[in-house]
Amino acid sequence: MSAALDWHLAKALLEWQVELGVTEAICDAPIDRFAEADETARPAPAAPPAPAVPASSGLDPAAEAARLAGAAPDLQALSEGLAGFAHCELRKGARNCVFADGNPAARVMIIGEGPGREEDQRGLPFVGQAGRLLDKMFAAIGLARTSPAAESALYITNTVPWRPPANREPTPDELAMLLPFLERHVDLAAPDLLVLMGNVACQALLGRRGILKLRGKWQTVLGRPALPMLHPAYLLRNAEAKRETWADLLSLQARLRELP
Ligand code: URA
Repeated sequence: MSAALDWHLAKALLEWQVELGVTEAICDAPIDRFAEADETARPAPAAPPAPAVPASSGLDPAAEAARLAGAAPDLQALSEGLAGFAHCELRKGARNCVFADGNPAARVMIIGEGPGREEDQRGLPFVGQAGRLLDKMFAAIGLARTSPAAESALYITNTVPWRPPANREPTPDELAMLLPFLERHVDLAAPDLLVLMGNVACQALLGRRGILKLRGKWQTVLGRPALPMLHPAYLLRNAEAKRETWADLLSLQARLRELP
């Protein structure tokens, strides 16, 4: 088979996969199948970089998370500490460690569940369909992640920074292990208000679920007012619940006006 024919065959195979619905490659780096035949003649590929903390170190992961998070003097250091945290299995299946988006000086910090497919690909929280709805919801009360002014800005993160496999919810163990990072994240960003977006954020920070009852009722989390709200992914499936969400957004706006 000539090299040109090989190229056309490879292209046809790729197009066939796209037709079948394949939307992403599984490996971080492309595999050159044509070069594999020469594998024995080449040196072994370099091993992937070792995680910053060996997973087999025998340390208690939650204690290690608390140590790393507590030692982070700022958000940049916290994000690096999280990216190097080797004890959570979620990181193995994820492409990116999704730390945050928006303006860290914002008065309002939103805490979602965890990255989905698009968030994992782009390394940013809430950039898929639910994220677009979230942006519209908050734009309705004059808040945006792109705003340079703290009063009209949003800062956005999740309970876990790695996409759980098949978009399952993070387990209670995973939430507990990563909680010290989330708590430190809130301390360092120091927002006036928190929004707990959906059941998983409530589970992580309030220790309870039941968002349909919790939504709209102000709580205190880490010494700050916190408003549980319906997750935009829920609103995409239950458009009639947008009325409650509008009431919650107005409550948030009123609280921002009340606070100094
Ligand atoms: N849902 C979330 O809770 N967080 C994201 O970042 C995306 C979707």
